Amino acid sequence: MDKLLIRGGRPLAGEVEIGGSKNAALPALAACLLTDQPVRLKRIPPVRDIGTMERLLAWTGASLQIEGGEVLVRAGSLENPEAPYDLVKTMRASSLVLGPLLARTGRARVSMPGGCAIGARPINLHISALEALGARITQSHGYVEAEAPQGLRGAEIRFDRITVTGTEDVIMAAVLAAGETVIENAAREPEVQDLALLLTKMGAQIEGAGTPTIRIQGVSRLHGTEHVIIPDRVEAGTFMIAAAITAGDLRIRDCVPEHVHALTLRLRQAGTEVSEEGPCTLRVSARERLRSADITTEEYPGFATDLQAQFTALMATAQGIAIVTETIFENRFMHVPELARMGANIRLEGRQAIVAGVAELAGAQVIASDLRASASLVLAGLVARGETLIDRVYHLDRGYERIEEKLAAVGADIRRVQ
Ligand code: EPZ
Repeated sequence: MDKLLIRGGRPLAGEVEIGGSKNAALPALAACLLTDQPVRLKRIPPVRDIGTMERLLAWTGASLQIEGGEVLVRAGSLENPEAPYDLVKTMRASSLVLGPLLARTGRARVSMPGGCAIGARPINLHISALEALGARITQSHGYVEAEAPQGLRGAEIRFDRITVTGTEDVIMAAVLAAGETVIENAAREPEVQDLALLLTKMGAQIEGAGTPTIRIQGVSRLHGTEHVIIPDRVEAGTFMIAAAITAGDLRIRDCVPEHVHALTLRLRQAGTEVSEEGPCTLRVSARERLRSADITTEEYPGFATDLQAQFTALMATAQGIAIVTETIFENRFMHVPELARMGANIRLEGRQAIVAGVAELAGAQVIASDLRASASLVLAGLVARGETLIDRVYHLDRGYERIEEKLAAVGADIRRVQ
């Protein structure tokens, strides 16, 4: 199993290029199942979750041509509208194929995702919304089985709580349903907007993506198109924090500054300089020890839960006490005991972490528990005295493209060991 070995203490300097968004590419790949015509997706990040989604599409009967960052999907006929347990257990976002398979073939069978390191993560909201669109859904032997032999019909759906992949799943079902669907309390994340843009290029009629109310007029069929995936805001945010935590100076290229605005505000509050150098470039630099800043995770445009662990690592080395409140997932503090092994002073109280910054972290052997927790350990390792060895790096590989190469290119002493 791969590990990362980091020798901390080097300020990062230089330029980093941000790749395509994993969480936008996953629904975009699922959306390709909605048409029998070829769809070409560009800037698909070569990370492990994407490989899982590609295998899932192939399993259902689609053919894929993968070259560099491009994927050409042809979902001519889908003999096997199913997401089997072996794929779903490694990637919960597999439930994103439920809506498209149902809309396209009138049936779908998707393994129920179990719990994961960050919380229970049920898909009850996806299921009740698809039922509102007329699907008959049963659950047996660990699978959700959905049927709509006469096709889906538009409906008014109000999510009890905001769900990102739930909103995406239902949009993909509704674009081929008869009549109008209105989704209230929809997720406003950039990834939802990117999906709506792709579907619109495929001939769907969608209004309001990026707002809490999305209106969809169903059409009878969709066609092929080309689409470039948006930059990964979590990767961009992780490198912004890398610049801040190492008192470095990084240019983050190919990002969308607006997508990381909530992080920018908190970094500035902590004493980091963040400036826009052109429409797609951010420059992030810090000179001295930062001050504490509180964060509360929220749905977009609030502070992203996917950057909470990384910001917690930053606060572990800042001056003063920071309160980190996690409102999206119930168990997203698995990085805290590992950061404590590196000398961080963090107390957990329910959904809050009370982080008392220390002057110095010390390298240690630590274990990655989930994707973003792993990133926080890398960040802590970059600034810790001595060597940090991070085990179970496969979590990191699920969502970050060559992170150690990108970090090494801007001056980090980091390498992968077996
Ligand atoms: C998406 O997960 C992202 N994944 C996650 O990114 C991200 O952390 C999360 O949104 C929140 O921003 C993808 O886009 C592939 P939710 P998703 O449904 O859609 C509860 C990463 O590190 N809920 O918005 O699964 C749920 O338990 C990952 O890249 C229900 O109760 O998250 C959670 O508490 C991890 N019932 C809250 O809603 C449901 O049916 C928000 O979850 C669905 C969700």
